[in-house]
Amino acid sequence: MSYTAAPHHRSVAQALARARRLVVRVQAGALLVLMLLLVVVASPARGEVTERSATTFATAPDTPLPQRLSETGLLYGADGVPGRVVGADTLPFSPQYPLWSDGASKRRWIRLPPGTFIDASDPDAWRFPVGTRLWKEFAHAGRPIETRFIERLADGRWRFATYVWNLQGTDALLAPERGVRALPAPGAPGGLYAVPSRADCRACHEGGPSPVLGFGALQLSPERDPQVPHAETPPPGHTDLADLQARGLLRLLPATVAQTTPRIAAASAVARSALGYLHANCGHCHNHTGPLAAMDMALLQSVADAAGSARRTWASVYGKTSRFRSDRGDRGDDAEAQRIAPGRVDDSTLLQRMASPHVMSRMPPMGVSVVDVAGLQLIRQWILDHELSSPLKEHTP
Ligand code: HEC
Ligand code: HEC
Repeated sequence: MSYTAAPHHRSVAQALARARRLVVRVQAGALLVLMLLLVVVASPARGEVTERSATTFATAPDTPLPQRLSETGLLYGADGVPGRVVGADTLPFSPQYPLWSDGASKRRWIRLPPGTFIDASDPDAWRFPVGTRLWKEFAHAGRPIETRFIERLADGRWRFATYVWNLQGTDALLAPERGVRALPAPGAPGGLYAVPSRADCRACHEGGPSPVLGFGALQLSPERDPQVPHAETPPPGHTDLADLQARGLLRLLPATVAQTTPRIAAASAVARSALGYLHANCGHCHNHTGPLAAMDMALLQSVADAAGSARRTWASVYGKTSRFRSDRGDRGDDAEAQRIAPGRVDDSTLLQRMASPHVMSRMPPMGVSVVDVAGLQLIRQWILDHELSSPLKEHTP
């Protein structure tokens, strides 16, 4: 049996130092992804027409971020009341597997420059024309708190920003680069709300094959998973995969994907939702291509190879030694920590970290302060079902 050298009880300082090193690694990795993106953008092979016609609508790289949300192009009603977004080219959308953010409700929009389209030739990493803008609004108790904004600049890079609403909900101003640690926000858990820093945006958005996380073939499939926790009802007039294709806004989708309705490959409804949940809440960091690829924990699903990615996920967690040592301290010294420990679901670090009350060990490491009980139950059920249907050959208690 291999044994991890890490001590059972890490001091906070040690844990912090470790987390910092990892954050640096994530950022370095993000930089690499960015550079690769630039290379791809520079190559004239595909989408040339799209990008040329978009240039006139794209923001020059050095342009400062607008100070007000309305200046980003997301138009609210003349009375400023959110919910009355105007502008026919601003399309609302809703991913079938939403990210858990302490119960905040969300609305999202995309706008492509006129005459452009998304290049879907890699169905798992769409290429968006320069000038693409996406927004995501977070609200508690019916009041918007922040609206996040990402934009693809004329040089192909993406930029990230967020705008914080005033208490009346009439205007939103650019948040500082470092975010806001504890914004008073009625309706948020404990009355406080954490606005992420721009480095946080990049840690999540640049950790996988595409910086756009909730607007892709799987997330926009017209066949939505009805059972996933916190499933949203798509807003009126929302766009999805079929609508984008019909409007000519999405092209070059490989025939193998275009002829089917993308969905997660799973034998049961529970397994489908569980894989979808991990895809949306964890897969942007834990995947086999990004900065954390060396961890070999692949929680992102693919539409090009749905069955293969589902198998890869299970194989990368089940019975796999975990580098993380449980902070429960109630196991014998010789117990090896596992991501999913066969026959010992509650000892599995994957579940422990989702349920952890400690900031330093909780997963995801940012954007969550209230444990997602429904998500946790789903993952637990998935593991138990899996074990019942495929009894373990060598199960050592
Ligand atoms: C903890 C990870 C995480 C952090 C931090 C984060 N995001 Fe996201 N974001 C996501 C995920 C996952 C989605 C898609 C799922 C959803 O919307 O529910 C998303 C969706 C979005 C969208 C809609 C377009 C898309 O990619 O689907 C925008 C815009 C956005 N985020 C902007 C930001 C900005 C700006 C920041 C920083 C201020 C930020 N995000 C921080 C994970 C994160
Ligand atoms: C913002 C990026 C990010 C997101 C999102 C994220 N993680 Fe992690 N995760 C990390 C990093 C970095 C590490 C390694 C450092 C550590 O263990 O704290 C890690 C480590 C882990 C480990 C220990 C790995 C091992 O060797 O066994 C588990 C288990 C884990 N994460 C589960 C999850 C789950 C489940 C989710 C979603 C509910 C999730 N993570 C979401 C960044 C992330």
